[in-house]
Amino acid sequence: MEPQTSSGLNRRLLIALILSLLVLCALAVLGGVALSGVLTFREQLLEQQALVEQLQQKVTETEQKLQQAEADAAGAGETAAQLQQQLDAARQELADAQKKLDEANSRLAAGSPSAEGTAATYPADAKLIALTFDDGPGKNTTPRLLDELKKRGAKATFFVVGSNAKKYPDLIRRMAEEGHAIGNHSYSHQNLVKADEATMKEQILRCAELIQTITGHMPTLLRPPGGNFDDRLQTYAKETGLSLVNWTVDTRDWKTRDKEAILAAAFQTGTYGIQDGAIVLMHDVYESTVDAAVEMMDRLQEQGYILVTVPELLRVRCGGAQAGVLYYSDSRSHSIG
Ligand code: NI
Repeated sequence: MEPQTSSGLNRRLLIALILSLLVLCALAVLGGVALSGVLTFREQLLEQQALVEQLQQKVTETEQKLQQAEADAAGAGETAAQLQQQLDAARQELADAQKKLDEANSRLAAGSPSAEGTAATYPADAKLIALTFDDGPGKNTTPRLLDELKKRGAKATFFVVGSNAKKYPDLIRRMAEEGHAIGNHSYSHQNLVKADEATMKEQILRCAELIQTITGHMPTLLRPPGGNFDDRLQTYAKETGLSLVNWTVDTRDWKTRDKEAILAAAFQTGTYGIQDGAIVLMHDVYESTVDAAVEMMDRLQEQGYILVTVPELLRVRCGGAQAGVLYYSDSRSHSIG
């Protein structure tokens, strides 16, 4: 009677051990994939899905093999105590891997807007930042920037000039397809404060209509050229459902055209340097800006920032952008009247 009980225990322990190790391996792989900063979130999700399918296949196959192996389990030469010890160690590793996977999943959820337009949620302590790029699209610079954003699962906001959008509609389409926000930066970069009223309206409308023709969506954000605004512009924005967006951090990239100077301006300490909720001004028409943006994104992500669009930043922090309000950051705004 006793040998039967012992070999029954051995079999159960061995089966449990093999199954635990199988799950442990899968969790370690999933955790590793989810934590990878290189893949985009969408790619990570697809890989996770594929791995889960592979795992299900393996479990089925292993169950079949186990049925055959069960008979030999008692002859494995392992004592019940040794198996128990291995099983305990495997369970501990499994618990650690599970914890890492949970952490990775919450980071994944935080950085990735969920499917079907459902609003993304962020951990309470998430640090958000909105990188914005004006004056483009640029023929060679913007595609490179879009590639680099995509690699990092980062989102940005492009305040495009209508005359450039007309030249490069494919780049506007690509921005929209890849989840970036597109804002209005006038048709030909005129100072809207100095323009007469008809010109001001025409500059805004002509750019807006172009963006709508290309993407199917009217832009709801306007960054006036030079950041110049007055009551007249703000009133018109309010009437036409536009929010105005300026910036917290001025990298002065258009002036210095130097990667290190751009980074130094962005990462300066104090009110005008990068911090949670900031809106960062750059221009995607200079190679030096793209060079700086690449390093900036890496540093920010290393520091735990999530790179989001301006509408997303304002949705999360202010309950959404309001027409006629001028925003500088997630919390500082200037309302008219
Ligand atoms: Ni500009």
